[in-house]
Amino acid sequence: MPANQSLPNIVILTGAGISAESGLKTFRDNDGLWENHRVEEVATPEAFEQNPGLVYRFYNARRAQLQQADIKPNAAHLALARLEKALGNNVMLVTQNVDDLHERGGSETVYHMHGQLLSARCAITQETFEWRDSFDHTTKCPCCNRVTLRPDIVWFGEMPMFMEEIYNRLAQADIFIAIGTSGNVYPAAGFVQIAKESGAHTIEANLEPGATNALFDESLTGPASSVVPQWVDNLISMYAL
Ligand code: APR
Repeated sequence: MPANQSLPNIVILTGAGISAESGLKTFRDNDGLWENHRVEEVATPEAFEQNPGLVYRFYNARRAQLQQADIKPNAAHLALARLEKALGNNVMLVTQNVDDLHERGGSETVYHMHGQLLSARCAITQETFEWRDSFDHTTKCPCCNRVTLRPDIVWFGEMPMFMEEIYNRLAQADIFIAIGTSGNVYPAAGFVQIAKESGAHTIEANLEPGATNALFDESLTGPASSVVPQWVDNLISMYAL
């Protein structure tokens, strides 16, 4: 379905902060560790080559945690799903998060630029498979029947997914909002600059100013579960959606 010209084109970028109130730790918590690990130990191709056992165990633990009964989407995820229902294809939801809380909150189209926890990828064919259980170096890949499965995660030094689609939409955006992301990891941290150059109104929604705060036209300061529903409700009433 083409975008509706009378409604704004909105690109939404979410980061770990939107899932913090759902019980998932952010990456750059005060201890600088991600669930007790330095990112270089678990989130690089070199780590996977040197210590695959640790990397499999780490992502198996994250995948199991994500499926615990107490991990649920919060009001911010639900609000973004409402916005998608109201604006349809005029909204693009891009997330750096590898959890499935946007989908569970009701969002239908989510661009997971850093991959997904509930997915496994064949290192040879790059085919992906929905995967809810643990897997490791002994697990046979469904496509080639060899032991080639890796977490479907974009590690540091790898190219994020959907970049062409995202840049195309940023070039047409009227509004760009970054929610719960510290603005430290590129290319996502550079989206605000591109949106700004395309003439978009840029908004940062975060507990505190992120690294690129100076590039935003507006700041919504506070927990995502309160500032995001307010922002969505304002938009819905402004455009009588
Ligand atoms: N509401 C809004 N913002 C919050 C909340 C909350 N409840 N809790 C935390 N935040 C903010 C923090 O202040 C911080 O600015 O969310 C941000 C989270 O930042 P990071 O931990 O750096 O997460 P993110 O920006 O998503 O990281 C980007 O880095 O490690 C890689 O690939 C990984 O996708 C990840 C990428």
